[in-house]
Amino acid sequence: MLFFIDTANIDQIKEAHDLGILDGVTTNPSLMAKEGVIGEQNILDHYKKIAAIVEGDVSAEVIATDYDGMIREGKILAELADNIVVKIPMTKDGIKAISYFSKEGIATNCTLVFSAGQAILAAKAGATYVSPFVGRIDDMAWEGMDLISEISEIYDIQNFETQILAASIRSPLHIVQAAKAGAHVVTCPLSSITGLLYHPLTDIGLEKFLADYKKLNG
Ligand code: G3P
Repeated sequence: MLFFIDTANIDQIKEAHDLGILDGVTTNPSLMAKEGVIGEQNILDHYKKIAAIVEGDVSAEVIATDYDGMIREGKILAELADNIVVKIPMTKDGIKAISYFSKEGIATNCTLVFSAGQAILAAKAGATYVSPFVGRIDDMAWEGMDLISEISEIYDIQNFETQILAASIRSPLHIVQAAKAGAHVVTCPLSSITGLLYHPLTDIGLEKFLADYKKLNG
């Protein structure tokens, strides 16, 4: 399973990259706004900066909601760097745009997916990634991870090549569950990735090893 970081924060992307386990980055308009990146040119420059840090795929989202606008913006985004993936919302125009980019050999990430039916459409359109939002389904008191399992089962049966990118991940437990449910990629905040590191028995064990070493070696 690939690890993507879900942020537009350069320091956090560098920190995850320095760990040696980062495979890519996802962003969205809310995450860009959170970093105070405003204005078309600044946004494009910011994507370029991110794409230069990581070797893997960087999802950059279109703002347009109509087909022509999505195609226009998607082409500009795809030109920024070889590892840019055009992120497109799950709408009628979005599916049409994904289909267009797929035929042009431009990678896409179909975002805002909340049902297996939507995931089937994204795969049929030739999306490179499909992004089901686990945490936002949990927020509605449904089990978000069930959607990952369902899509995984369907994609396996149908031999769809679209990669399942579990998004809206909120905790280290979500990462473990996404791995079990068959996600090809998980995108998450830095805190969820580093949260995987900790176990009190690791700390206690390390303390004891060092104490035993010091007893004999000073
Ligand atoms: O990748 C999608 C993600 O950014 C949404 O996460 O926590 O806003 O639901 P969240």
